[in-house]
Amino acid sequence: MKALILVGGFGTRLRPLTLSMPKPLVDFANKPMILHQIEALKNVGVTEVVLAINYRPEVMLNFLKDFEHQLGIKITCSQETEPLGTAGPLALARDVLVDGSGEPFFVLNSDVISEYPFSQLIQFHKSHGGEATIMVTKVDEPSKYGVVVMEEETGKVERFVEKPKIFVGNKINAGIYLINPSVLDRIELKPTSIEKEIFPKIATDQKLFAMVLPGFWMDIGQPRDYITGLRLYLDSLRKNSPSKLAKGVHIVGNVLVHESAVIGEGCLIGPDVAVGPGCVVEPGVRLARCTVMRGVRIKKHACITSSIIGWHSTVGQWARIENMTILGEDVHVGDEVYSNGGVVLPHKEIKSSILKPEIVM
Ligand code: GDD
Ligand code: MG
Repeated sequence: MKALILVGGFGTRLRPLTLSMPKPLVDFANKPMILHQIEALKNVGVTEVVLAINYRPEVMLNFLKDFEHQLGIKITCSQETEPLGTAGPLALARDVLVDGSGEPFFVLNSDVISEYPFSQLIQFHKSHGGEATIMVTKVDEPSKYGVVVMEEETGKVERFVEKPKIFVGNKINAGIYLINPSVLDRIELKPTSIEKEIFPKIATDQKLFAMVLPGFWMDIGQPRDYITGLRLYLDSLRKNSPSKLAKGVHIVGNVLVHESAVIGEGCLIGPDVAVGPGCVVEPGVRLARCTVMRGVRIKKHACITSSIIGWHSTVGQWARIENMTILGEDVHVGDEVYSNGGVVLPHKEIKSSILKPEIVM
């Protein structure tokens, strides 16, 4: 089977991290977001993944080349000369996706995290005989998403409304699809939205089906949701592979510490923390609800909560970083500095406190 991952877009909502890396390569739980997806696809027998991309494909391909070998899966790029939206890229990659086997292919939004229950998706898709299956999940704030109204018994989709202004329902499109090659006959090679132009038509023809996604789900394309997503992901690790989580007297709740990270004496870490490869956490540090990316150094007695610390940054001793502070790559926070929701661009040095949420350029 094949899969296409939609990796276009500039990821502006995840700046400053996306100033250094395309969104799909931003680490989540100690590995690039997109690797979580590629590994799960590989596990259900996908042999080729097409990345539908509209800028800087070389960064992405260079990076993923190593994983191609490690995972034993073919990864190619399909590059747009203009952004083709969420359906146009399928038409562009038509020759790869349609290989004569008649098999359906996966399509994924690149910024959604879940347990990726792909085998259940395949099973359900085969059982209903429609043209496409989308996974749906319940959320409290459906207006930010594509809302799906479906027949409970059969999963047949009655309506698909992208970002509705008035309430239509609370089941939303999770951005995970299994699609028959015949759907490509509905898509022209031009900028097209699968949510606004294609799904509503397939639904009208009664050939669109939806399956409620078992387990957790989150679109991690914005800092607050990213931090919530980490909590949900770690909860699910606790249930499914608890041995991957850190243990010890200095750990509270669910924590992921990369094997190459060093944690000093007398730290208190957790809940809901990821400490990445090569990080050094000096003695007496307090970390909760945060992500510390590759190569970061946190000096003695610093305290970080509800924040993201970008690659190769340093946090000074006795510093306090909180309330959705996002440090870009290679940011250096001085000793005893306080940050309340600072969003700091890459390669900056912060010598005085940031007292209220603001962007520091
Ligand atoms: N190749 C390519 N070209 N990819 C694109 C383009 C484009 O022109 N535009 C967007 N994408 C990719 C994004 O990188 C992302 O992976 C995916 O398409 C969806 O775009 P987002 O910008 O993240 O959309 P959204 O989050 O507002 O809404 C979508 O996701 C929701 C779930 O998170 C929709 O699919 C909603 O229906 C859905 O509920
Ligand atoms: Mg999104």
